[in-house]
Amino acid sequence: MNATTAIPTMTGQEIVQLTKKHTIFEWSAQSKVDPIPVARAKGIYFWTPEGKRFIDFNSQLMSVNIGHGDERVIDAIAEQAKTLAYANPFMATEPRARLGAKLAEITPGDIDKFFFTNGGAEATENAIKIARFFTGRHKIISRYRSYHGATAGSISLTGDPRRWANEPGIPGVVRVLDPYHGVDRGWESAESSLAMIEEIIQLEGPQTIAGFILETVTGTNGVLIPPDGYMQGVRKLCDKYGILMIADEVMAGFGRTGEWFAINHWRVVPDLICMAKGLTSSYLPLGAVGMRHHIAQHFQDKVFFGGLTYNSHPMGCAAALATIRVYEEDRLIENAEKMGRVMKQLLADLEKRHPSVGEVRNIGLFGIVELVRSRRSKHPMAPFNGTSDEMAALDRFFREQGLYTVVRWNSFYTNPPLCIKEHQLREAFEIIDAGLEITDKAVKD
Ligand SMILES: Cc1ncc(COP(=O)(O)O)c(C=O)c1O
Repeated sequence: MNATTAIPTMTGQEIVQLTKKHTIFEWSAQSKVDPIPVARAKGIYFWTPEGKRFIDFNSQLMSVNIGHGDERVIDAIAEQAKTLAYANPFMATEPRARLGAKLAEITPGDIDKFFFTNGGAEATENAIKIARFFTGRHKIISRYRSYHGATAGSISLTGDPRRWANEPGIPGVVRVLDPYHGVDRGWESAESSLAMIEEIIQLEGPQTIAGFILETVTGTNGVLIPPDGYMQGVRKLCDKYGILMIADEVMAGFGRTGEWFAINHWRVVPDLICMAKGLTSSYLPLGAVGMRHHIAQHFQDKVFFGGLTYNSHPMGCAAALATIRVYEEDRLIENAEKMGRVMKQLLADLEKRHPSVGEVRNIGLFGIVELVRSRRSKHPMAPFNGTSDEMAALDRFFREQGLYTVVRWNSFYTNPPLCIKEHQLREAFEIIDAGLEITDKAVKD
């Protein structure tokens, strides 16, 4: 074997076998995993060691927003590594200084101070700490159709079934329903959903609630785009009861929806904002929680009881700064908005052509297709938290055809890197169009 891993000398099969022998794959029984061996990546594509090309239609984990292999970010990381690879969090470094200032510029309203973490879970963990320190209250509201990370606190905030095996989690989490109730039951109005939330706030005792954490556009639980008025209504409820509004923008942030942050679509300023993924486009691990000015002021005299060895890691901060420059130089947020309009049309065409398509949704380049067995009843193609032969066959088809995306329950995602061009988007949708012949066969009426 080569002394370095930069020049691959193993076959795809050897990589898979050795990886499976000595490492654990997440969220899986190990005998069931069948990973794709990946050797290199560029733009919207990645390749196996044998040279099979995949369109990365999920930006890996909805995170490589600028696309793969951007030399500007790679050079910034290399430069930082040569100059100062690490300084402990009690030091002040130039990349840390510049990144804080840049984030203050692009985040909504008067959010102007940031605590840096290694990823999204630590961002949500620290957000709930901040909400608790600031308000002196302890309960946190979250929603059932949500994912906020896999550490003890963040998995307790998480509403989806990944939480179940991790219970009991941290105390004080109160969950509320979302305005969406699944493909067969559909959407509730913003007004009635907000009334339910207010009722729960009153039943729990508003004076006990520190924060309400919510994904601005829900990610892995279905690209759920809130009805107009919902985010504004949550903001009002939080103001009315002195609860901090915590926007989890880990997946929806950094251009994915055609805005720097998804919350901007509704012109709402949250009290705290969590980010990761697109912050560095995953070139290096980095997350952050940002806070409004008056919340940051609280910690002028009071201790911020939180820390991480890799807080404000200089290489992570340098990667983030270079990534943000790429969004700006290449106008990727605008491209996401523009290509999002093309995606909307392509999704609508799928819905017209394929009886198994029950519902499509997208905002910018954040998209999903929900499949059903019946157009009439909208009975899902796979049950909640389950799969079916048809969904598994569709997954296999995408993989054979070189389209990488996540197939989950009765749906699959359309989340390419934001640098995608129209012809590439159309090429991916041609594969999807062919694949849906499989699920169409299962439709009864
Ligand atoms: C909305 C949201 N919050 C938090 C997280 C957790 O981030 P990480 O996996 O970096 O800990 C994720 C990850 O998918 C996410 O989508």
